[in-house]
Amino acid sequence: MTSGDAAPTVDQQTVSPARRWNYWLGGKDHFQIDRESGDRIADAFPAIRIAAQQGRAFHNRVIRHLAGEAGIRQFIDIGTGLPAPDNTHEVARAIAPESKVVYVDNDPMVLTHARALMVGGTTTYVNGDLRHPGTILDSAELKETIDLSRPVAILLIAVLHFIKDDEQAREVVRELLAAAAPGSFLVATNSTKDFIPPQTAAMYDAMLATGHVDAWPRDKDCFGRFFDGLELIDPGVVPICDWRPDSDERPTAAETSMYGAVGRKPR
Ligand SMILES: C[S@@+](CC[C@H](N)C(=O)[O-])C[C@H]1O[C@@H](n2cnc3c(N)ncnc32)[C@H](O)[C@@H]1O
Repeated sequence: MTSGDAAPTVDQQTVSPARRWNYWLGGKDHFQIDRESGDRIADAFPAIRIAAQQGRAFHNRVIRHLAGEAGIRQFIDIGTGLPAPDNTHEVARAIAPESKVVYVDNDPMVLTHARALMVGGTTTYVNGDLRHPGTILDSAELKETIDLSRPVAILLIAVLHFIKDDEQAREVVRELLAAAAPGSFLVATNSTKDFIPPQTAAMYDAMLATGHVDAWPRDKDCFGRFFDGLELIDPGVVPICDWRPDSDERPTAAETSMYGAVGRKPR
């Protein structure tokens, strides 16, 4: 299904990661159930709002690097989220106006907002599921917008951790990268428990077990394996705040509890 299909049904009784993320970012597109979930998580991990904001800041820094220094002109942003300040096409086009972007998400609410992301014919939206990369890669919208014989940046920002199984997540990444030309980039982040005290980590595990959080954390080694076969761009696998920071004053690794990295497919 694409953005041109019938209006999707937005389920107001089930928590949506997209709407909850929007709540933490200070947006307006969420329901009571999302706010309750967001508040419950924030009560246990007060830094979650900082983590969401820093996730966007990481996204911006990486896009600026890719559109600038690396000369990338095509982006596939999977797990787009609801429109927020500095969407991928806005950051990329500020540097290279000809940049093309395909947004992909499986949340009906994101689909209802997709028009805001589709500008100028060179930005489009696929209502697709990361767990089925083939359907994303085969979609008419992607094929019309992206030339996969040329380098592309595949963005998996704050979305891989919704796939619990490590091997399934790796297979998804492998399939996406197999379709991408040499010189393409993978950008990914994943939540982690590596920096939080054992007591907080135990609390996180308990919330995972009861379904009160749904982001499956990965340690540095496990996250780093998504980049197997790629050339890691300096500084490698690091807490998101430490990836080419704009400022010396920044949140700690524990406050963001999110790894990020950028890798390039060898030429
Ligand atoms: C935490 S938000 C991150 C949004 C954005 N990437 C950012 O960093 O601001 C995660 C997004 O991934 C989407 N998502 C979760 N699982 C997905 C899946 N299997 N396929 C596509 N999108 C998914 C959610 O709907 C949500 O919009």
